Amino acid sequence: MKNILLAVTGGIAAYKAIDLTSKLTQADYEVRVMLTDHAQEFVTPLAFQAIGRNPVYTNTFIEQNPEEIQHVALGDWADAIVVAPATANTIAKLANGIADDMVTSTILATETPKFIAPAMNVHMYENKRTQHNLATLSADGYYFLEPGEGFLACGYVAKGRMEEPLQILERLNQYFNNDLPNKKNSKFKGVHAIVTAGPTIEELDPVRYLSNRSSGKMGYALAESLSKRGAKVTLISGPTHLDAPKNVELIPIESAQQMFEAVKLRFDSTDIVFKSAAVSDYAPAEMLDHKLKKQAGDLTVTFKRTPDILKYLGENKHKQFLVGFAAETQNIETYAQKKLKSKNVDVIIANNVGDRTIGFSSDDNAYTMYYKNGKAVELGKHKKVILAEHILDNLETRWQ
Ligand code: PMT
Repeated sequence: MKNILLAVTGGIAAYKAIDLTSKLTQADYEVRVMLTDHAQEFVTPLAFQAIGRNPVYTNTFIEQNPEEIQHVALGDWADAIVVAPATANTIAKLANGIADDMVTSTILATETPKFIAPAMNVHMYENKRTQHNLATLSADGYYFLEPGEGFLACGYVAKGRMEEPLQILERLNQYFNNDLPNKKNSKFKGVHAIVTAGPTIEELDPVRYLSNRSSGKMGYALAESLSKRGAKVTLISGPTHLDAPKNVELIPIESAQQMFEAVKLRFDSTDIVFKSAAVSDYAPAEMLDHKLKKQAGDLTVTFKRTPDILKYLGENKHKQFLVGFAAETQNIETYAQKKLKSKNVDVIIANNVGDRTIGFSSDDNAYTMYYKNGKAVELGKHKKVILAEHILDNLETRWQ
């Protein structure tokens, strides 16, 4: 029998935590429950005690057993902790190591695996701060029980509903059957990863260039998540407005040719490459050393092909795992599959860059991962910091 410590925090979805306690108990889990003060505005300790047939914990300073320190002993007792519902406030406290109540003190004091089921208003959920906090927790090893879309208590029909108790039960079953990545022991620990990010710029003359809308957000998010999982990360990046993540080696480049040289130089000693950069396929055939003067009539510029870096890596890999990206506006799956084969990569991550609300520059994207063995995994629409976590979680379970 496995022990589940359920932490209930102060949102209206707390009523679902009663059902969750019941489902877990019926599935033969031993369940103990902690409630924050705010959770008790919505549900009572007695309800959980009656259903779970175990004591309920609400106050760090009421020690029920003098022989132990309750918030430490509880964490040690649990095989998994589930925070459901998790409010934006509790998520922020956990991400910042604040321990000012029974729930946060217990969680800070234990290494036990943690699952988090956010539930809140859609704008709170999508707020940059909340997304950043969730990404921090995910990178710290928390398992994320994604909220669903539907009718919210605030009146919106949008994302923010707590994951259904049955789905949470399934995820826990999966975890105990070893079907989820072991984040505590990430496969990326000690691995050397190259991430390419941002646009390239291809100069025509000292003041003009050809480039694209890539902001680098996706590549930088991947670099940060990889580094937090223990990888040694080299980020080869075109010009962006972003700061390099902590503990990541940044190699700034401008042109596709420079990116090619920087990647080639490090490829032999690399284990995995993420090619999220938007590399220009063409560059002006000639780079003028003076400003091109205006002339009568139209201007014709000849462009030459740049090196296809990913294709080169696919042709020259020996041990490396290659993760390519495909930016498409139509026939997404067909073109992505074509790139998967023609560039000899292990996974291609496709996005629809025709949708201006996601893709280039946006904080959001929606990806599908196509594996060489034919498996396709839909990641759905999320902030890029969350997508980085989902991409790595997915690779953790499939990358040998
Ligand atoms: O940077 P953001 O604003 O966060 O946006 C993210 C993104 C839209 C840039 C990212 O999701 C993405 O799709 N990146 C790949 C863009 C691209 O160049 O796709 P492509 O389908 O043209 O190229 C396919 C693959 O070949 C890519 O991995 C690309 O890096 C690589 N390539 C392309 C051309 C070239 N000369 N050399 C390459 O290595």
